[in-house]
Amino acid sequence: MYNAVFKNIQEHKMYEALTSVSEMLSRNLDTLCQQPLLVCGLLEDNMPVLLADNGPAPRVFTTDFRYAQWLNDNGRITPEFGSAPSVQPTQGLLLLMPKAKAEAQYLLAACLPLLAPGAPVFIAGDNKGGVKSAPKLLSPYCKQVNKLDSARRASLYQAELSRPAPAFHLNDWISRYPLEQEDLTICTLPGIFSAEHLDAGTQMLLNETTRLSGRVLDFGCGAGVIGSSLLKRYPDIELEQIDINALALEASRLTLAENGLQAKVYPSDGLNEVQGYFDCIISNPPFHAGLKTFYSTTETLLCEAKRYLRPGGSLWLVANAFLPYAELIEQSFGHCETIAANGRFKIYRAQA
Ligand SMILES: C[S@@+](CC[C@H](N)C(=O)[O-])C[C@H]1O[C@@H](n2cnc3c(N)ncnc32)[C@H](O)[C@@H]1O
Repeated sequence: MYNAVFKNIQEHKMYEALTSVSEMLSRNLDTLCQQPLLVCGLLEDNMPVLLADNGPAPRVFTTDFRYAQWLNDNGRITPEFGSAPSVQPTQGLLLLMPKAKAEAQYLLAACLPLLAPGAPVFIAGDNKGGVKSAPKLLSPYCKQVNKLDSARRASLYQAELSRPAPAFHLNDWISRYPLEQEDLTICTLPGIFSAEHLDAGTQMLLNETTRLSGRVLDFGCGAGVIGSSLLKRYPDIELEQIDINALALEASRLTLAENGLQAKVYPSDGLNEVQGYFDCIISNPPFHAGLKTFYSTTETLLCEAKRYLRPGGSLWLVANAFLPYAELIEQSFGHCETIAANGRFKIYRAQA
């Protein structure tokens, strides 16, 4: 318990040090601070406050609930959290290159309609994080893209919006794939987990889960695959779906609507926003880090899940076979059952 809380505090503190991308950006504040910018993408530090200290305060749009909470707690800038920025004109854009190129395309499409022709567009990122594709990403919107700076393994590109960008419609960005076993259609959005097909680990977890009832929590719901499949099989369950990513939450809502299902869907960093007790917590939990953020989300879940379960309630988990989760579950629950295993994944269950 103490470890989990300590790790959370550590993760929140992590945003305080500048990333190497922001260190490179801090050499370009004269250019960046000539107008208030809309900043979005892979936000992992205090860069928005640095901009505010050196010029007009930026607008921050983020799809990351943890970052939005951190910036809110900081008090200087109120971020917009959601799947698209609010429709208010803005004088320039700084996109911090997200991990997935498809997400960068989505964010440009969502943000550029807010800019007038001639407004500056900047893309910055780690050289290993795909920033070199900036000229190609901007080619539908800007005639010329220049590399403004490159340092500390990061690059900054600059361009001018050539003509008004087409209006943004979220529906244009939805992809769908069928889950034939359950007669379901899964809706996904760019950059979210298993955006194109069902994950093999999730499939294995769904194959093994049986006899669920009562209040069920789909932790890290992604496109809502697990929760929607369970609702289809066990229509009487009371389902809640949580994720840290606004695009995942939007996709989960779309998946529910597409299949005529109902659940409570809301943002939560780990179990922080969850209330009351559950009969089941089920997850294919997150297992890899952003370029900077290290991950303790799953370890924290394994430590804390028991406190959120009713007596007799169970935790169901799929994880890569090499991860040491069985020991962590045993430490917290006093036991851990391995329900199924293959070379890649293991399915664990523990009862409160
Ligand atoms: C491995 S994916 C599983 C997605 C989905 N359940 C599936 O099986 O396809 C893990 C999910 O956890 C979410 N996630 C990551 N960190 C989180 C956190 N701190 N709190 C809640 N969800 C988180 C990610 O956004 C991602 O959607």
